[in-house]
Amino acid sequence: MLILAFESSCDETSVSVVKDGRIILSNIIQSQVNVHNITGGIVPEVAAREHLKCIEQLTKDALSEAKTNLDNIDYIAATAGPGLPGALMIGFSYARSIAYAKNKPFIPVDHIEGHILANWLEKNDPILPAVALVVSGGHTELIFVMKGSDFRRIGGTRDDAAGEAFDKVSRMLDAGYPGGPEISRLADRATEKNLILPRAWLRGTNDFSFSGLKTAVLNLLKKEQNISKEEVAWAFQESVVDVLVSKTSKLATELNAKSVLIAGGVAANKRLREKAFNEIKVPVFIPSPILCTDNAAMIAAAAFNHIDESIPAHSIVEIFSTTNRGKLLIDKKRN
Ligand SMILES: Nc1ncnc2c1ncn2[C@@H]1O[C@H](COP(=O)(O)OP(=O)(O)OP(=O)(O)O)[C@@H](O)[C@H]1O
Ligand SMILES: [Mg+2]
Repeated sequence: MLILAFESSCDETSVSVVKDGRIILSNIIQSQVNVHNITGGIVPEVAAREHLKCIEQLTKDALSEAKTNLDNIDYIAATAGPGLPGALMIGFSYARSIAYAKNKPFIPVDHIEGHILANWLEKNDPILPAVALVVSGGHTELIFVMKGSDFRRIGGTRDDAAGEAFDKVSRMLDAGYPGGPEISRLADRATEKNLILPRAWLRGTNDFSFSGLKTAVLNLLKKEQNISKEEVAWAFQESVVDVLVSKTSKLATELNAKSVLIAGGVAANKRLREKAFNEIKVPVFIPSPILCTDNAAMIAAAAFNHIDESIPAHSIVEIFSTTNRGKLLIDKKRN
């Protein structure tokens, strides 16, 4: 059974063909990073236009790499939200149009559910129930996963997402966009490791806060103009990773979870992966880095769990009425 899936919620255009919800036959990802680097962040209208420029060619590439064609596709899926409305609209409308023209059933997918389901694209299936930590550009959430399509939100950030904090601190350090990989590279080069930045524990809750840490970095850079960027990047990364891993681990113990799943772009962070594997007592599942950041294979993996709910393409009236499929309850705020 083949799913052709589309992802265009932010600044990656991706088209993928996945067999039986698990086997990736192709997963083409085109990043707009070079375009958004010029402005130091994403301009939503520009992102939408960039998706439009390449989506047709990427679809051809994805089908050809999977050695198949549209006639052999059983279902078409696309990210319905959350994300940048203009950007979402391109992938979603394109996918829906193909489904309509080819008379294929269509499955709208929640982007965050996709990030979590990326864990099912690896060799070993996660053990459930699990606690999932979703750490991305727009989200930092703790979710209890009962089944691959049954989620309960337990807590999350009260202000910035962890990825957003990485991006903003990178900008403060003039280190480029996206900030996560740049901060990680700087941190690896740190020779001095004495600086300690604050950690917002928000004890007694399962919530996070990263805005105070961001301000602490800003104030430090104003005060100490000759401070080593590498040491600041290292201390910032330690602070974020420490809180993420400690709170996830504690929740997993409290809920008797059989494993921990980490998902979203920040899950590509080397230090986060290392600390999670070393310190969390139950088995930890994290997708390979390419499946942590936005990609369409994860959308196909999530769509697979909703095949029963697939709909004829022409029945969808309004794009955002299709978000939050399954039982995923995630705040859609993006600060
Ligand atoms: N190695 C890394 N270390 C830390 N952060 C990283 C790393 N690689 C990517 N990121 C961060 O991940 C984020 C992008 O992740 P992702 O593509 O999942 O976010 P998004 O799709 O923009 O947001 P969301 O999924 O919440 O809608 C960026 O903030 C980026 O800085
Ligand atoms: Mg994402």
